[in-house]
Order: sequence, then structure tokens, then C-alpha cells
Amino acid sequence: MSVSALGIRVNKIEKSRISEIDPNNIQFGKHYSDHMLIAEYDNGAWKEPEIVPYDNLTLSPSTTFMHYGQAIFEGVKAYKDPNGNPVIFRPHDNHKRMNRSAVRMAMPEVPEELFIEGMRHLVELDKDWIPTSEGTSLYIRPFMIATDEFIGVRPATKFLFIIITSPAGPYYSKPVSIFVDDTYVRAFAGGIGYTKAAGNYGMSMYPTQRVREMGYDQILWTDGIEHKYVQEIGTMNVFFVLGDKVVTPDINHDTILEGVTRDSVITLLREKGITVEERPLSMDEIEEAYKKGQLKEAFGTGTAASIAPISKLTYKTDVLELPPVEQWEFCNWLKKELSDIRYCRKPDNHGWIYRV
Ligand code: COI
Repeated sequence: MSVSALGIRVNKIEKSRISEIDPNNIQFGKHYSDHMLIAEYDNGAWKEPEIVPYDNLTLSPSTTFMHYGQAIFEGVKAYKDPNGNPVIFRPHDNHKRMNRSAVRMAMPEVPEELFIEGMRHLVELDKDWIPTSEGTSLYIRPFMIATDEFIGVRPATKFLFIIITSPAGPYYSKPVSIFVDDTYVRAFAGGIGYTKAAGNYGMSMYPTQRVREMGYDQILWTDGIEHKYVQEIGTMNVFFVLGDKVVTPDINHDTILEGVTRDSVITLLREKGITVEERPLSMDEIEEAYKKGQLKEAFGTGTAASIAPISKLTYKTDVLELPPVEQWEFCNWLKKELSDIRYCRKPDNHGWIYRV
């Protein structure tokens, strides 16, 4: 299948719903733009995608993914450059990650043309939905679901690949408070922690609900064997500034999502000459650094959340309060640097900006 050669059939809406949103007050994940892209996989092949008005899907109650969770997704963002032209941040990296998730979940890989060209067409068509104020963007959600009408347990043979988009404000509006979980487990070697499988998020709901009831915003997961090494936060990778070094868990154990923002942050820090260590990082080491006054900053990174400072971490009975964010050096610099690149206020020296 060649999307660009054949063109994508477009069924446009009659009247845009864009007047329903207030561009100065956009909540994450609440509003969806006028169109969506949809492509079917059947008989071992992807069919031609279509762009259609954003609408409900009609699916049989026996549709496989509803029962056994063969479902994966991605998160990408589009911005406008200073001249108002739409750009997408690192979509090829999300495409590669989507296919890593697909392989692990016994789902078909999505051809690059379908993922990138499909997304490009959709963003072009709904470019008026890209908000432009600082911290806002058009959040792009590609996802794939298994659609066999069959409740026996086996890998499905039919799938839907869909892209929806949603104008987005900041995911977290203030620094996040974190509870370090030492009861539940998110990921383990040989598991699916490194994928963007829906199940990784489904299993996190109950532990997250518990920490919310305790007054925290999010969970920091620890390893499933000793509950000693930190992994990632519910919606983000995690970074700690210990003295003059930045440390983040390495992605070598199937447990950590290979975040695109994570990679961007590591790249920018290293280019600035800052030491970034990707390695196992224990709560003991973080607490030790805290006691010595060496825990300078802690922040999460993710497409939705971008860079989210952490205000405090609770581990067992210990509460680690971080210094006021205004005093932080690396996190504040990274936020500005990344924003300048994403909104094209700085040259793109890394090939991260994909022009629509
Ligand atoms: C993202 O950062 O894009 C995510 O997918 C995290 C979350 C909103 C589920």
C-alpha cells in the first residue's frame, strides 16, 4: 500500500466545531478536532486509509481488544512555527516505537507511509485546531485495536489503526507530588513495560487512585523484585539532578518506556556538556543525596506532560521536599530550550521538526 501514491480519501465535515473551544483555556484530552484517520487491516494487509469526520465507532461487543487488551497507542504533538505553519515534533520516533509495541503485542506493524503521511494529511486538514499560546499544542493520538469478533483467546487477525487529534494545554498545571510505590508493580523483565500498550495504563489505575486519595498527583514505580530501583512515573519518564549530574533509569530491562521527550532531554543536556547517566537508580541513593543536600531537581518527561517538575516525593515514611522550582537550573533551561525548538524559535539542529 502506498498512501502518498494513491492519496487518502477525505470525507470533510460540513461545519467545523472549532468555535466550541476556548483557545485560552484548553484542558488536556477534552476536545477533539474535526477529523480522524482510520485504516483497516485484514487478510494480512492494510487497506487504504480514510480521513472522516471525528465520530463514534460501531463495534461488536465481542470485539477482541475490549476483552483481552490487544491495544496500543502513541502520543505526538504538533505546533505552529512563528509564521503559522504547522510542524510535528519527532513523529518518526513515535512511528518506530509504535511498531516495537505492535510486535510485542502480536499486532501488525504500521507502514511508515500510513503513520507519517496519514498524520501529515490529518494535521494539515485540521491545522486551525493547533493552538499557539506557550505550552499549548495539538496532541496527536495514533492507536491500534484488535477488532476480530471473537472471544476465544488468540492473537487477532483484524485491526483498526486510527489517529485522532486534540488541542491541548499543559497536562500538569503545577509541580507534581509523587508517592513512591513499594507495593504494586508496573513492569518487569520480559514484560510489556517498554511498550505503549493500553494494559500498562489499565493496571495503573487502582494504585494511582490510591495515591490520589492520599493527596498525591502520581506514582513513581519501583522494580518488582526489591522495590528498590525507580522505573518511571505514571505518565512520564523520570530524571533526578544529583549534585551536578543528571541521572535517569536506563531502558535495558524491558521496563522503561523509551520516551521521545526523554531522548530529547538527554541529547540537549549532553550537548550542553552536562553529565547524564542512564543506569539503575535506587531510592537509597536518592535519599542519601537528599540528606546531603545534593538532590537539586527532579522532573518527569513525556509528550503529554512535556517537562514536569516534582515538588515532593514520599517514600515509605520519608518525605523528600525539593527546593523551589524557580531556583532550578537544568529543568528550567530544558523547558525553554525544548519550547524554542518545538515552536521553531530556534534552528532545528537535530532533524526533530517535521514540516507539514
Ligand atoms: C504521552 O505522554 O503522550 C502519553 O501517552 C502519556 C499519557 C497521556 C498516557
